[in-house]
Amino acid sequence: MSRIAYVNGRYVPHGSAAVHVEDRGYQFSDGVYEVCEIHQGRLVDETRHLDRLERSLRELKIRMPMDRKALSHVLREVVRRNRVRHGLVYMQVTRGVSRRDHPFPSPEVQPALVVTAKSIDPAKGVKMAEKGIAVTTAPDNRWERVDIKTVGLLPNVLARQDAQEKGAQEAWLVDADGNVTEGSSTNAWIIKDGALITRHADRGILRGITRTVVVEVLAAEGLRLEERPFSVEEAKKADEAFVTSATKIVMPVVSIDGQAIGGGRPGPLVKRLRGAFRRHSELAAA
Ligand code: PDD
Repeated sequence: MSRIAYVNGRYVPHGSAAVHVEDRGYQFSDGVYEVCEIHQGRLVDETRHLDRLERSLRELKIRMPMDRKALSHVLREVVRRNRVRHGLVYMQVTRGVSRRDHPFPSPEVQPALVVTAKSIDPAKGVKMAEKGIAVTTAPDNRWERVDIKTVGLLPNVLARQDAQEKGAQEAWLVDADGNVTEGSSTNAWIIKDGALITRHADRGILRGITRTVVVEVLAAEGLRLEERPFSVEEAKKADEAFVTSATKIVMPVVSIDGQAIGGGRPGPLVKRLRGAFRRHSELAAA
């Protein structure tokens, strides 16, 4: 079956889907995105993802390309046309197409919207979670507004490539104080003596939707949460570790820079959280 993408008002074959050469996303990374999981043909936590999209756009003074109801319809239509039961839907909004110049286009132009979807074999995630993943560490050299989900991801890309070259599946970014901020495309967590520790969500990390759901899971399960910085050294001594994201859900981390965590196997609390996650995420019909 051929894939279909939505590009600025049209559903087009994925292979020939294209944006203009002067799209500001392409030239300046002047845009934002969201990734939403599709589970059993339904959108996971759509409300929160669209809330965050609107916030990211507001912070950059970009208009919504269409109202929320229409956007929601496009997401469903792309999922439907690609027959995705398990996978991801990706949406990207940029400031639009305009002759290259740094200030915002004046008069304002229509923001550009691209939506794609892809199927993923759910067995892959299950297998990965059974084994756990390895993470490496890399300096967090991003700008100061990483709470905005912009498409400017070069530091994340370089850190992730470095991880891959070292045989790891994710890179944890480390600030100047030696504390882990988050992963290249995930939020980072450790567990010590029954307490779940993750960096507080200020401007220094992306406030992950999966992270927010896990915080709710912890409250419901009576588990202790500590939102604070933690160092790489502290992480290496943790009982368990994991990452969260729309793509990885709750994914055990079994080594950091080659050092085994919790005996190098996924621990009991991480497994419990992964199991509980589905009961707390919002599933909207697609
Ligand atoms: N990444 N931190 C960063 C830097 C991210 O890029 C992401 C998501 C997260 C987790 O957020 P959420 O739980 O809302 O997915 C944290 C997406 C999945 C990506 O870039 O593919």
